[in-house]
Amino acid sequence: MWRTNLLLVLALIPASFCGPVNTLQKRGNVSFADPRTNNGSFLDNAGDGFSEPLNVVISGTSSPAVLTDEGFIGFAGAVGFAPECLGAHLGGPQSADLGDGNGFQNQTFELREDFGNFALGTCIEQLLGGNHLRLFRQNGSLADTGALFLAVSLEMGLLENHTIAENGYDVGRDNLVKKAVGLTSFNGTTYNTTAQNLTGVMPTGNATINHGIAVDGNAVLLIVEIVDTTQPG
Ligand SMILES: *[C@@H]1O[C@H](CO)[C@@H](O)[C@H](O)[C@H]1NC(C)=O
Ligand SMILES: *[C@@H]1O[C@H](CO)[C@@H](O)[C@H](O)[C@H]1NC(C)=O
Ligand SMILES: *[C@@H]1O[C@H](CO)[C@@H](O)[C@H](O)[C@H]1NC(C)=O
Ligand SMILES: *[C@@H]1O[C@H](CO)[C@@H](O)[C@H](O)[C@H]1NC(C)=O
Ligand SMILES: *[C@@H]1O[C@H](CO)[C@@H](O)[C@H](O)[C@H]1NC(C)=O
Ligand SMILES: *[C@@H]1O[C@H](CO)[C@@H](O)[C@H](O)[C@H]1NC(C)=O
Ligand SMILES: *[C@@H]1O[C@H](CO)[C@@H](O)[C@H](O)[C@H]1NC(C)=O
Ligand SMILES: *[C@@H]1O[C@H](CO)[C@@H](O)[C@H](O)[C@H]1NC(C)=O
Ligand SMILES: *[C@@H]1O[C@H](CO)[C@@H](O)[C@H](O)[C@H]1NC(C)=O
Repeated sequence: MWRTNLLLVLALIPASFCGPVNTLQKRGNVSFADPRTNNGSFLDNAGDGFSEPLNVVISGTSSPAVLTDEGFIGFAGAVGFAPECLGAHLGGPQSADLGDGNGFQNQTFELREDFGNFALGTCIEQLLGGNHLRLFRQNGSLADTGALFLAVSLEMGLLENHTIAENGYDVGRDNLVKKAVGLTSFNGTTYNTTAQNLTGVMPTGNATINHGIAVDGNAVLLIVEIVDTTQPG
C-alpha cells in the first residue's frame, strides 16, 4: 500500500507545485496520473479473461508532438517499430481503464518491430516474432494528461501462433527502453529520451497475466523531447 501511495505522490509532485489538482492534470504539466487512483489499472483486459501489463508510459511532459498518433509513430520509428504489416491485423483489440474517467477503452493502435525496414519489416516480425506494442491514451476528463500507456511484449512468430516469449513482457519492455534512451532519430526528427523506473505498479508473478507469463511488477516512464527537427529536402 505504501508503494501505491508513494507512486501517486511521485506522479503528482510536478502538479502540486503549480496550483489546484484539476489544473495540474492538464496536458503538459504532469507526467501521468496513476490509473489506480480512479479504479483503473496498469493491467489491461486482453479479452480472454487475462491481462497484459501496461509496462511503458510516455510522459505527458514529453514534447506535445510526440503524444499525437502521427508523432508517436515517428518516435516509434526511431526505436524500431512500425505500423502492422501492410495494415494486417492479428487478434482482437485489448482494452484498458487508465482511471481518467473514460472507463475501458480499446487500444488506439498496435505497432510491431520493423527490423530496420519501416515499410516491410513488420511483415518479417509477423513471421519470425519480435517486439510488439499496443497504445492507450490517458485523455479522459478526470486525468487529461495526454500520457501514452503502452503494453509492450516480445512475441514469438507465426509458427508459434504469436504467443509471448518466456518473460516476454519484461524483456519486451527492457528492449524498447534500451533502444529509446538517449538520442534517436527518424524521418528528420531527433529525440532525446530519459527513463525513470515505476516500481511496484502491478502485482509481481503470473496471476491474471495472459499466457501465464510472470511480470516483475514494474513499468518504465519515458520522457521524450524533440531536440532538433530538420525539414527534409
Ligand atoms: C500548467 O500549469 C500552469 C500553472 O498553473 C498553467 O498556467 C498552464 O496553463 C498549465 N499548462 C498546461 C499545458 O495545462
Ligand atoms: C471507483 O469505485 C468505487 C467503488 O466501486 C466507486 O464508489 C467510485 O465511484 C469509482 N470511481 C470511479 C472514478 O469510477
Ligand atoms: C472494442 O473493439 C471491439 C471489437 O472491435 C468492439 O466490439 C467494442 O465495441 C470496442 N469497445 C469500445 C469501448 O470501443
Ligand atoms: C482521446 O484519445 C482517444 C484515443 O486516441 C481518441 O480517439 C479521442 O478522440 C481522444 N479524446 C479527446 C477528447 O481528445
Ligand atoms: C498453433 O495453432 C494450431 C491451430 O490451432 C495448432 O495446431 C498448433 O499446434 C499451434 N502451435 C503451437 C506451437 O502452439
Ligand atoms: C515523415 O515526415 C513527413 C513530413 O513531416 C510526413 O509527411 C511523413 O508522413 C513522415 N513519414 C513517416 C514514415 O513517418
Ligand atoms: C538529453 O537529455 C539529457 C537529460 O535531460 C541532457 O543532459 C542532455 O543534455 C540532452 N541532450 C540534448 C542533445 O538535448
Ligand atoms: C531501472 O531498473 C533496472 C532494473 O532494476 C535498472 O537496471 C535500471 O538502471 C533502472 N533505471 C533507472 C533509470 O533507474
Ligand atoms: C504460473 O507460475 C507458476 C509458478 O511458477 C507455475 O506453476 C504455473 O504453471 C504458471 N501458470 C501458467 C498458466 O503458466
